[in-house]
Amino acid sequence: MDDEEFGRWIALVERRTGMTMPAERKSFLVTNVGLRMREVGFEDYESYYQHVISGVAGNLEWAALVDRLTVHETRFFRDPKAVGYLVDQVLPALARDNARELNVWSVGCSTGEEVYTLAMAITDALKRQERPPHFGVTGTDISLHALGVARQGEYPIRRLRDIPETKRLAYCEVLPDGERFRIAPALRRRVCFAHMNVLDVLPASSRQVDVIFCQNLLIYFDRARRQAIVEGLAGHLHPGGILLLGAGEFVRECPEGIERAPDAGQVLAFRRRTP
Ligand SMILES: C[S@@+](CC[C@H](N)C(=O)[O-])C[C@H]1O[C@@H](n2cnc3c(N)ncnc32)[C@H](O)[C@@H]1O
Repeated sequence: MDDEEFGRWIALVERRTGMTMPAERKSFLVTNVGLRMREVGFEDYESYYQHVISGVAGNLEWAALVDRLTVHETRFFRDPKAVGYLVDQVLPALARDNARELNVWSVGCSTGEEVYTLAMAITDALKRQERPPHFGVTGTDISLHALGVARQGEYPIRRLRDIPETKRLAYCEVLPDGERFRIAPALRRRVCFAHMNVLDVLPASSRQVDVIFCQNLLIYFDRARRQAIVEGLAGHLHPGGILLLGAGEFVRECPEGIERAPDAGQVLAFRRRTP
């Protein structure tokens, strides 16, 4: 792939996913585009590029390619501080202020571990508060393949070690082959998954979501785009609702109507002010 072709590919990836692709990642892009291109029978980057940007077949091919160009690294209880803050501070406050069902959204949920982590933590927290499990967690991602894994809710047995023992016993079932486990059906009923590009999140002001988890996604975007996405997400927060970003995903300006949560310590959390 020459520099001109590389320039065209990174512009396409950035336009469609928001991810910036610095020159150091050229080999990542060349390897992954090259592998996919050969799988579908193209010999050169230019004709494959033309295929990807044209018509319905191009759209279908893009859906497969984007899975190769995104990083899906994730694990259960990846950010225990953020989960602890949610359980100890956010949920009691939300429960005090309203009696309706809680809506939780995991943006860039990858293969689902974050979604099931939230569902386990929230179920236990509501149980401690002697409240019924009236909540739902929705996970969204740009990768159809990752969402397929998430929906299946089955993982290699080694991933069990990331889950605290009490939750492992309550929410995980080892499959007969002993090599995999699955998330218990009662917990799976609390979650759903949908295909969504975070660039399409407009500041819609729907104000229906209580908690948004957006972790290890914005790091791939430049500052201006991060800011726009955070504003878009914040527009969906219910008054008192919380947006939790990953460490290092700092945005310079707080969107209107949002403040940095003062009780969050090291966790990067923003709260929609109550009117
Ligand atoms: C590194 S994973 C993070 C997973 C999880 N949030 C965590 O912290 O463990 C980043 C995820 O963001 C998704 N992603 C990348 N660009 C996206 C976009 N424009 N819209 C939605 N999801 C995107 C990728 O497919 C990937 O699954």
